[in-house]
Amino acid sequence: MCGIVGYIGERQAVPILLNGLKRLEYRGYDSAGVAVLHNGVISVKRRAGKLRILIEDIEQEPLPGTVGIGHTRWATHGEPIDRNAHPHVNPVRTIAVVHNGIVENFLPLREELESEGVRFQSDTDTEVIVHLIDRFVAAGRPLVEATREALRILKGSNAIVVLSALEPDKLITARLGNAGGIVIGFGEDGEMFVASDLPAILEHTRRVAFLEPGQMAVVTRNGARIFTLEGEEVPVQVTTVPWDISAAEKGAYKHFMLKEIHEQPRALMDTIAGRVDVRTGEIAFSTLPLSKDFARRLKKIHMTACGTAYHTTLVGKVLIERLARIPVETMIASEFRYADPIIDEDMVVLAVSQSGETADTLAAMHEGKHRGATLWAIVNVIGSQAMRMADGYISMQVGPEISVASTKAYTAPLVDLYMLAILLADLRGRLTPQQRKELVGHLQYLPGWVEQVLAREEEVYRVARKYMRMKNALYLGRGINMATAYEGALKLKEISYIHAEGYPAGEMKHGPIALLDEDMPVIAVVPQDPWYEKMISQVEQAKSRGAPVIAVATEGDERIAEVADEVFWIPEVPWMLTPVVAIVPLQLFAYYIAAELGLDVDQPRNLAKSVTVE
Ligand code: G6P
Repeated sequence: MCGIVGYIGERQAVPILLNGLKRLEYRGYDSAGVAVLHNGVISVKRRAGKLRILIEDIEQEPLPGTVGIGHTRWATHGEPIDRNAHPHVNPVRTIAVVHNGIVENFLPLREELESEGVRFQSDTDTEVIVHLIDRFVAAGRPLVEATREALRILKGSNAIVVLSALEPDKLITARLGNAGGIVIGFGEDGEMFVASDLPAILEHTRRVAFLEPGQMAVVTRNGARIFTLEGEEVPVQVTTVPWDISAAEKGAYKHFMLKEIHEQPRALMDTIAGRVDVRTGEIAFSTLPLSKDFARRLKKIHMTACGTAYHTTLVGKVLIERLARIPVETMIASEFRYADPIIDEDMVVLAVSQSGETADTLAAMHEGKHRGATLWAIVNVIGSQAMRMADGYISMQVGPEISVASTKAYTAPLVDLYMLAILLADLRGRLTPQQRKELVGHLQYLPGWVEQVLAREEEVYRVARKYMRMKNALYLGRGINMATAYEGALKLKEISYIHAEGYPAGEMKHGPIALLDEDMPVIAVVPQDPWYEKMISQVEQAKSRGAPVIAVATEGDERIAEVADEVFWIPEVPWMLTPVVAIVPLQLFAYYIAAELGLDVDQPRNLAKSVTVE
């Protein structure tokens, strides 16, 4: 999962490429590079490490040129060192390629090319693409045909952009499978852009076209033509995207993660707006048409996702089963397609994904479609593959999320699932108008409840300072807030590198209790919900084993105040909405520990924002 950007126009390419790469750094950040064409010569600069290192290098020695490609890498083949960074070039430097994905038949191809006398300069799979294109160009093929021939040989999901000194007036881009999208941006005044993701080009244009799997495009200063891999031309569909770039700026916050935690009240408001009528209790999603007949026929919903998004499905299951009485199965997307799931036409596969590009999630969706299910998706990135593949979708409406650790793209889909559960329950005749109105009515107070938690940030900071040197933590939750424990633990481990486990509290006695002592803090999610009494007794057990207890609890709860060492207070909210509010102090807790430890909060080691490889 790497970031790709390309430019062709009248302006200097490098500043545009580097700017685009900065916006894509969240996709991969172990090395970066650019290739620019000037006076018939391709110049390349590639550096291991953060993008900043490449930028400093280029400041010393600028690269002129008005056509170029850039890349920010997350290594799959070959360690992150200078020579493995993209772009990769052929020996005579007439062809440069940036690539996202994995060439699955890279080893036999490499052997074949080496036996023909090709000398490889890197350990990457990408380099075979360059040599294959080179081979066909040397045989006299125009660049577009040479690229097409090369692509036909590759196995796996791949997205590329090709620059050639032999045909300096164009960029060729292509997409095979789901390894990552390609978006083409239509600028004004004879300039065009190519990128793996929208944020890279949004400051220049909002008029874009997306490549579908199996398509390639020839991009010149004046436009783009799109073809299938068989060479058949397809019409270019230009759409205008709504986000503007200011939404992706850090502003006054030290890190994107903190900014995004604070954006949650607004994000929740946006995800509710336009979907509910609090006076009548009516709910409708314009992009997820849902008939009474379908809702009543629905036998089962299979929910699937990865990482943080997966945790939303655990809450969704409780909500949909309780309210709509539809059985829900949740499955981690990387397991889904190998599980031989039992699916038929009266079932829905519902994927949750911030990026809408996660390879495992897309594969699970394919599996669902293949087996005849209706596909639904809850996605954030407009135009993403998950959104386009789904029969119906709900957009999270949270704006770009830049921090690798997901926050607002966790709470917003919880609310989307709450609304969906109510809508399904209503269509299935399980709610009186009064009940529906009451459930929907709560939503208007939700942004305010989250604000109240954020107002206690100082308190969370104090506790974070106190516990920042811990080596382990056990997060416990039950019922609807089991997911809160999982998600709280995930937040801590991904950004602070402290080992944290989320556990269903009732399971503590079957193993984890053996770990408890004064060095193993227990973070217990104990709001007022139907599992409260059971949670309290588990907190008491943990305490009696000597573990320090940090609780997330409802204001005014004297019992918890007595037993816990620290309490993150949340306001009293209806139990079905407690996961939305209870996670917020745990997001802040993880954030302040990582920030105080001086770690790279927004780009934690070894992680990436969208994981477009299996
Ligand atoms: C990566 C990110 C996580 C995210 C997961 C799923 O692992 O680091 O923050 O939860 O992918 O991403 P998605 O875009 O499908 O929600």
